[in-house]
Amino acid sequence: MKLKLQILQENDVNQSYLDWYQNEKVVRYSDNQYRSFSIEEQKRYVKNCLASKDTDLFGIFDEDIHIGNIIINRLNSVHKWGEITYVVGNTDYWGKGVGFFAVSEIIIKAKKVYKLNKLCAGLAEGNIGSQRVLEKNGFKLEGRRLKQLVFGGQFYNQLDYGLLL
Ligand SMILES: CC(C)(COP(=O)(O)OP(=O)(O)OC[C@H]1O[C@@H](n2cnc3c(N)ncnc32)[C@H](O)[C@@H]1OP(=O)(O)O)[C@@H](O)C(=O)NCCC(=O)NCCS
Repeated sequence: MKLKLQILQENDVNQSYLDWYQNEKVVRYSDNQYRSFSIEEQKRYVKNCLASKDTDLFGIFDEDIHIGNIIINRLNSVHKWGEITYVVGNTDYWGKGVGFFAVSEIIIKAKKVYKLNKLCAGLAEGNIGSQRVLEKNGFKLEGRRLKQLVFGGQFYNQLDYGLLL
């Protein structure tokens, strides 16, 4: 594998990207289970991210294959913290260190490029893969919001993680 993060462009949007969100495993702990996207809508989303000063959307690529995304939000926060969300949409790549790689690259950018003081991320309790990705990258559990999320008709606690940079 030759992994890299690259700002996502409109022409990266194709059917196999949209298909990630049709996979129950991928959306199990995500609000994307409530949405359906067309290519046009997704291109508009990417375009809005490109125009936004508050958000950067990176594709995770293995060479030229787009396998996931990682997003950093709140870049203009006066409080100097950003929020990250991520997905490895191509499940053939799960368990191979891609999630860990993407978060570790964003940590470097958060320090060097965005000059933030802190990164935050939230996840549904039970999303062990996501929790491991954060903990392996040094994030600490800062709080647990009880029954904060509904996925698949079930309530889940939200775990809030933070990393001081
Ligand atoms: C969560 C997600 C990003 C993990 O990506 P990944 O590339 O498979 O994770 P990695 O291979 O980097 O794994 C990092 C660690 O987590 C562990 N891990 C990953 N998935 C796991 C799972 N489902 N159960 C248990 N452990 C898991 C790995 O074994 C590894 O730990 P180790 O190094 O101690 O062995 C991926 O499963 C995903 O995209 N899920 C759907 C979207 C999602 O939930 N995003 C997070 C929203 S908060």
